[in-house]
Amino acid sequence: MCRIRRTGVRVSFPAAEAPWSRRRRRRWQQMPRRRGNGSRTVVDTTFRTWNATAVLRDDHKKLRQLFWRYLEMVPEKAGGMKARLFEAIQKSLIIHATIEEEIFYPAFEEESRKNLRVREIISAACESHRRCKHLLQEVLSMEPQDEGFDAKVRVLGEKVGIHIEEQEEVLHPIFEGLPKKLQNEVSSDLRSRKMELEGEYDLE
Ligand SMILES: [Fe+2]
Repeated sequence: MCRIRRTGVRVSFPAAEAPWSRRRRRRWQQMPRRRGNGSRTVVDTTFRTWNATAVLRDDHKKLRQLFWRYLEMVPEKAGGMKARLFEAIQKSLIIHATIEEEIFYPAFEEESRKNLRVREIISAACESHRRCKHLLQEVLSMEPQDEGFDAKVRVLGEKVGIHIEEQEEVLHPIFEGLPKKLQNEVSSDLRSRKMELEGEYDLE
């Protein structure tokens, strides 16, 4: 046991947990770091290896949680909390839609030419984005305490849920079947763009 004396109080902890211990320093070095602009906390070594579908699935999971928190926990609560949660939903949705439209969907260009089904799925996904953005604009034109605000957020959550199912069940497996080199390039671009947007939107 190591002991330090501070203001007359004896504090003790196992040697391995002492601030100067090698194990503690190693653990600190492995902890998630804030990037340069302080906008994202991520274990860089792990995130850098994520395939595009893993990044998008992680987004989907976070979006589901945000909608769940909003719809299940918030309606009776204060407008300020609702506004903050909705702001997080809005930013996450915009970032997610942007990386899909700019980087993920164009990865299927070649496949779309050969495969009508893929072409249809991509065009349905773009249409679903367009509808979600339209609904988002409608919600943004309202105040959280307005009648109908929660109902619109619920509809948006349902639309996003359908989008998530279609993407994960149909499009992601197709992407995972594309040439590995293409998958790696797309994944790298997607991760970079996501971090850049998170910096712009100041989102973790
Ligand atoms: Fe998605």
